[in-house]
Amino acid sequence: MIEEVQEEAPAEFSFPPSAPVLYEDIQEAQKKRKETGIKELNQVLGGGVVQGSLVLIGGEPGIGKSTLLLQISRDFAAQGEKVLYVSGEESLEQIKLRGERLGIRNEKLYLLAETNLERVLLQAEQLSPQMLILDSVQSVFSSKLTSSPGTISQVREVAHQLFRFAKKNNIPCFLIGHITKEGSLAGPKSLEHMVDVVLYFEGERDHNYRLLRAFKNRFGPVSEIAIFEMGNRGLQVVSNPSAFFLKERPTHEAGSVVICTIKGTRPLLAEIQALVSATLFVGNPRRMTIGLDHFRSSMLMAVIEKKLGYSFAGEDIYLNVAGGLSINEPAADLGVLLAVVSSLKNKAVPQDVAVFGEVGLSGEIRSVSHPMPRMNEARSLGFKTVILPEGNKASLEKENIANMKLMGVGHIKQAFQIIF
Ligand SMILES: Nc1ncnc2c1ncn2[C@@H]1O[C@H](COP(=O)(O)OP(=O)(O)OP(=O)(O)O)[C@@H](O)[C@H]1O
Ligand SMILES: [Mg+2]
Repeated sequence: MIEEVQEEAPAEFSFPPSAPVLYEDIQEAQKKRKETGIKELNQVLGGGVVQGSLVLIGGEPGIGKSTLLLQISRDFAAQGEKVLYVSGEESLEQIKLRGERLGIRNEKLYLLAETNLERVLLQAEQLSPQMLILDSVQSVFSSKLTSSPGTISQVREVAHQLFRFAKKNNIPCFLIGHITKEGSLAGPKSLEHMVDVVLYFEGERDHNYRLLRAFKNRFGPVSEIAIFEMGNRGLQVVSNPSAFFLKERPTHEAGSVVICTIKGTRPLLAEIQALVSATLFVGNPRRMTIGLDHFRSSMLMAVIEKKLGYSFAGEDIYLNVAGGLSINEPAADLGVLLAVVSSLKNKAVPQDVAVFGEVGLSGEIRSVSHPMPRMNEARSLGFKTVILPEGNKASLEKENIANMKLMGVGHIKQAFQIIF
């Protein structure tokens, strides 16, 4: 239970009353989009940011939200647009320090350090910027309410007023929101339905890469992702994510398998690692998974035991996706299975083989979506052989595929025979 102070009803509606309009009388409004300087970000936004839209960017503390938005501000300001960046968390000097790192010169970028929402909006009305950024929704408060900043009612009020500002002035507004791992703390979760676009910025603390994905978009699909790397000059787009995630792959080591997975609509190669070793906990061996679904992995172990005749009763099994990626699609099944068997037998999977396919409980290998982009991604990274579900191979046969050996498998035994 959370205690909340009872507040007066928010201010009366300032809109004139509107009457119903006939559908065919409505002028088709071409939603104008502005492009940021980052192509991948435009894709995540559905082709650029729409005028008059409110975009929420959520992420854990320190992930790089302010950096990303300062970069966006820089790009728009460099195109000659008037941008207002409001920070309720950092001093102007702090922001400038970050700006120096990002190489911001004398662009038309206005900064404002302010935590009172009404004052922010007053300044914004006077300046009439072509883009407004508020960092962050938790640090700004409306004086209409008595509760402290960051409480649900404050956060909603801030978002609501900003939404109205965006629509009234027909400019894009960006709102930063902090979330914890659970998505709680009066966080963006409670705002998701109020805004037009919700982007989440994710990544592992100990890894340099950051993943930006759309969670909701009123003006585009939510399937795209962008991958960035944090460096001292700010966030740089990782243009070849597969190479990025495979660059430190061990050579000819048992227990390592490259899979072709899909993140958003983008194919990505990832390395699944397995370590099977004799347990010290007889009767209760360890099963650890990082980056993969634990239950699904346990299921795959059972399939191996039943269908390939191995026993894991005396073995600890550790599974990991290299680079801190997390993968939750069944197309990774075959890779997980082969990695485990490879480690168990202590035999490496050939270096130039990539795999994908879903494994069923009878050991059958089932087709997955988007075989073509998966295969192409493997080919572009120099893989020579792809082991894939028979059903997918049949659908690819019509295509003209050069420099690549496709080996269709219908059962895990076949895959096992090919590799080992
Ligand atoms: N010189 C630098 N070189 C590389 N990385 C840096 C440098 N300075 C800061 N960083 C990284 O930038 C990240 C913080 O970025 P930023 O302040 O944009 O995050 P944020 O999400 O806005 O954080 P907060 O939740 O505190 O507002 C940290 O991960 C930090 O390691
Ligand atoms: Mg910040």
